[in-house]
Amino acid sequence: MQASAQAQPNIALVKYWGKRDHVLNLPAVGSLSLTLDSLWTRMSVSFEDIEHDVLEVNGADATAMLPRVSRCLDLVAGEERRRARIISESNFPIAAGLASSASAFAALVVAANEAAETGHGTRQLARLAGAASGSAARSVFGGFVQLTPGDAAIEVEQLARADDWPLQVIVALTNEDQKPIGSSEAMMRSEKSSPFYQRWIEAQALDLGAARDALFDRNFAVLSGVCEHNCLKMHSLTWTSRPPVVYWNAATVSCLETVRTLQAKGHGVFFTMDAGPQVKAVCLPESAAVAKAALEQTPGVIRVMSSGLGDGARVLKD
Ligand code: PMV
Repeated sequence: MQASAQAQPNIALVKYWGKRDHVLNLPAVGSLSLTLDSLWTRMSVSFEDIEHDVLEVNGADATAMLPRVSRCLDLVAGEERRRARIISESNFPIAAGLASSASAFAALVVAANEAAETGHGTRQLARLAGAASGSAARSVFGGFVQLTPGDAAIEVEQLARADDWPLQVIVALTNEDQKPIGSSEAMMRSEKSSPFYQRWIEAQALDLGAARDALFDRNFAVLSGVCEHNCLKMHSLTWTSRPPVVYWNAATVSCLETVRTLQAKGHGVFFTMDAGPQVKAVCLPESAAVAKAALEQTPGVIRVMSSGLGDGARVLKD
C-alpha cells in the first residue's frame, strides 16, 4: 500500500485563467503547455492504519496544505480509504509561480493510484489531478499538452512528445518567496471585476488554434507571437481586477527587456510568466546558452534554472 511517483511542472504557453465551475474546478478556457524535465516533485503515498492523513513537504510538516491533498486522495481512492502518510519533495521553490502545484498533484494522483491499486487510466488521472489544481492535469502528460474544457469534465491530450521539438526553457527566479495571492482567488477576482474578462474568454480559441498550428508547423516565430500575446492578456486581467493583482516585480520587467534585446539580435526566444514574478524564457536549442547568460546578468535575477522538455507523471520503482 505504498508507492512513489514523480512529475514535473509544466509551463503554460496558452494560459488557463478563470473557472467555469469553482466547485468542480473546471477551467473556463482551454490551454496548451509544455512539461519540463529537470524540475521535479517526488511524492510518496503510504496508506496505513493511522488516525488521520499526515503530510510532509520538503522535510517539514505541512498541515496547512493537507485539506487539499486529502480531498485529492479521496477522489482517487474513495472517501472510505485508509488514512495516508504523504511525503513530498521538490527540487525548486514551491508556491512561487513555478507550477509546483501542477507537479505535486500530478505526482500525487499517480502515486495514490498505484498505492491503492485503483486502476484509473491516464485520462482519468489527469481529470482527478485537474480537480485539485487545473494546471496539474497537464503534468500527467509529457511534451506538448492541450487541455480542453468540457461542460462536465476536461479532456487532456498530448499533442507532441518532448523529443519531437526539443525546446529549452530558462527560468529566471526574481523572488523565491511564496506568492501573496493564490491563483484560484486571483482568478475569481478577474472573473468578477476585470472589464476584459469576457473578451479573454471569447478570444482564447483563436490563440489556441494559432499555437497548435505553430506547434505542428514547428514555426517558432509564430508560436512566440501568440504565446507572449496570450501571457500579457492573462496578466492584463490580473492588473485590471479590483483590487488589482500584480505578480510582477522590477526584475520581471528587466527580464522582459532582456528577452526583447535577444529577439532584436535574432535569437529564438520568447517570454512567459504564470501566477508569480518568475520569467520563463522558451528557447530554440541553439539560443538557450545565450539566453541563460543574458538572464543571469539581468538586474534583480537571483538565479537561473535550465530545463529541457520531459515526460509525464510516472510511478517510481525503487
Ligand atoms: O492550476 P492553478 O490553479 O495553479 O492555475 C494555474 C494558472 C496559470 O499557471 C497562471 C496558467 C496555467 O495555465 O498554468
